[in-house]
Amino acid sequence: MIPDKVPKEDVFHGSLDLKKEAHISSFEKYKDLYLKSIESPDEFWGGIAKDFFWKTKHTGQFLDYNFDVTKGEVFVKCMEGASTNICYNLLDYNIRERNLGNNVAFYWEGNEPGDDLSVTYRELLHRVCQFANVLKSQGVKKGDRVSIYMPMVVELVVAMLACTRIGAVHSIVFAGFSAESLCERIMDSKCSLLLTADGFYRGDKLIQLKLLADEALQKCKDMGFPVKKCIMLKHLSKEAEDAALGCQSPPAKRSCPDLQEKQWVKKSRPVPQVPWNPEVDLCWHTLLCDASDECEPEWCESEHPLFILYTSGSTGKPKGVLHTLSGYMLYTATTFKMVFDYQPDDVYWCTADIGWITGHSYITYGPLANGATSVLFEGLPTYPDVSRMWEIVDKYHVTKFYTAPTAIRLLMKYGSEPVQKYKRESLKVLGTVGEPINPEAWLWYYNVVGEKKCPIVDTFWQTETGGHVLTPLPAATPLKPGSATFPFFGVVPAVLNESGEELEGPCEGYLVFKQPWPGVMRTVYGNHQRFETTYFKKFPGYYVTGDGCRRDKDGYYWITGRIDDMLNVSGHLLSTAEVESALVEHEAVAEAAVVGRPHPVKGESLYCFVTLAEGVTYNHTLEAQLKKQVREKIGAIATPDYIQNAPGLPKTRSGKIMRRVLRKIACNERDLGDISTLADSSVVEQLFQNRCCSAV
Ligand code: PRX
Repeated sequence: MIPDKVPKEDVFHGSLDLKKEAHISSFEKYKDLYLKSIESPDEFWGGIAKDFFWKTKHTGQFLDYNFDVTKGEVFVKCMEGASTNICYNLLDYNIRERNLGNNVAFYWEGNEPGDDLSVTYRELLHRVCQFANVLKSQGVKKGDRVSIYMPMVVELVVAMLACTRIGAVHSIVFAGFSAESLCERIMDSKCSLLLTADGFYRGDKLIQLKLLADEALQKCKDMGFPVKKCIMLKHLSKEAEDAALGCQSPPAKRSCPDLQEKQWVKKSRPVPQVPWNPEVDLCWHTLLCDASDECEPEWCESEHPLFILYTSGSTGKPKGVLHTLSGYMLYTATTFKMVFDYQPDDVYWCTADIGWITGHSYITYGPLANGATSVLFEGLPTYPDVSRMWEIVDKYHVTKFYTAPTAIRLLMKYGSEPVQKYKRESLKVLGTVGEPINPEAWLWYYNVVGEKKCPIVDTFWQTETGGHVLTPLPAATPLKPGSATFPFFGVVPAVLNESGEELEGPCEGYLVFKQPWPGVMRTVYGNHQRFETTYFKKFPGYYVTGDGCRRDKDGYYWITGRIDDMLNVSGHLLSTAEVESALVEHEAVAEAAVVGRPHPVKGESLYCFVTLAEGVTYNHTLEAQLKKQVREKIGAIATPDYIQNAPGLPKTRSGKIMRRVLRKIACNERDLGDISTLADSSVVEQLFQNRCCSAV
């Protein structure tokens, strides 16, 4: 399965000699360990588990599972009988056993250059314990769900870990999502508490988070699901009129003597006026004043739910992906250590938002489990200018850097000069995630950013997989630009044809996995049937990723993109159904069909065809309204790039929209293949004639 030999020519390594200190220093070592991880998972993972704290040890086999729907319910269980607490492992255990208390856990870098602070492991523990006590004081108990809608601030990590300390389950909603998306997620996960902030700046743009949170809570209430309390962090309004908020000032440096206070650079920035409902709203800082910084961790069994994170589903309704305690902890810790070849003197920076799985696994859990020092960045790669990333790399001497292809393509447009303004001497490993990286972007990243010194780890994974599943290891794997290379330890990929047969050798087909690894999702929250249908029904016995993939003659895996009705816009998955339903909710729209059109920076852009209701005429005002409608229903990431008036849509005789044809129209490709099943082929010519040429 893993090739005996990897090519020596036409592959890349990076010129830095990482092998001397690397955890996995050669392809042979990777291969040996990989075989061990597959043949003796108990021994492999059991050895790794020894580095963690267990209140009670596990009994029986390491992983128990059924992936075959025809043989009964699909399940995965890891380390039955064991109990632990992830927050205890990440903080207390690292402080006590590894003496990391004074090490920096996070360098927080604000949107505005100069707004920064750092937090040590000990400080983080104090703050987490305090906030865990706040949660308890609000009646949150083990197993309760807490919704979090916050910007990229240290308090977001504090909130996550505080939940886990008391066995509560966090459900983070990316702060770029709309009020409606937040409401949908709060209701689906039945959260009784919402944590949010007054607002934040992304570049020059003020996001009034509390206003959106209020709107979401009102919607929840209207739909018969009143959320009991909303705790608001004052992130921007530190100098605002506290009285108006019903808040006191943040606590004096009582329980965190070393805690640095934020020094805002741009004090003149407008601060949002925050509406306040004393029946629901509570001030984060006021609650902290009364909270003790001692909080015994709640010991939870291995399969205790850790968090829910929503991801787009092809039916349109987002799926609450559920991850559980022990397996996720071990898997994110191990992938982080091996894939970034984490070493104690590293400064690691992942530019993702914690609201996505990349942030969960590789800003919070994986790095903290290793006692790593990370940069936590609130801002944008282009603000105040396109050198910001490299300025931050030099400021903190970042050694391992992890970002998305869309960010690379965006920065590539500005050439090498903004990169070369900064030295970047500290960099050792570069990573990418979120979508296929085109070889051109890969080479720019490798040549210009890494100056041919740094290997690039192109990590393929999903919200569902919890951590990396196909990935190079930086000192071991010869790299091919655009390939996620080989499986991580414990992961067994296969490529299937349409009939579900496993293909051998070089081939192309459906990417599936044959057995679980500790970090794989356990269910769709509240809907196990949907979990089975989505991932296990098409090919019984396999986890189906939904991605297409090619395996080349050297055994390298190349992801070819989604094969379901999902789009990947700037590394974010969106379902076409979700966007279509937002469009048809507008009274002017009778029918909508959305497809992806390749985009040089975003990977894919949204091309929407709309058929209008009787008597409605298409114009720019309507176009703007539709765009706004989608943004408000889903969030800014789903804003359509193109909207085309489509008096008719290409349909089969049975009435199914032929998206394949629409994709060709969006790209102006006349070679349509077989269209004999089309009910009315004149529609197609009409659509070609009315194509949108530029983005709206
Ligand atoms: O299509 C694949 C793409 O992103 C999808 C997963 O999206 P999400 O659950 O939002 O998680 C993104 C971050 C892990 C996958 O099904 N994808 C992710 N990483 C890669 C990728 N496609 C190609 N290469 C990658 N490295």
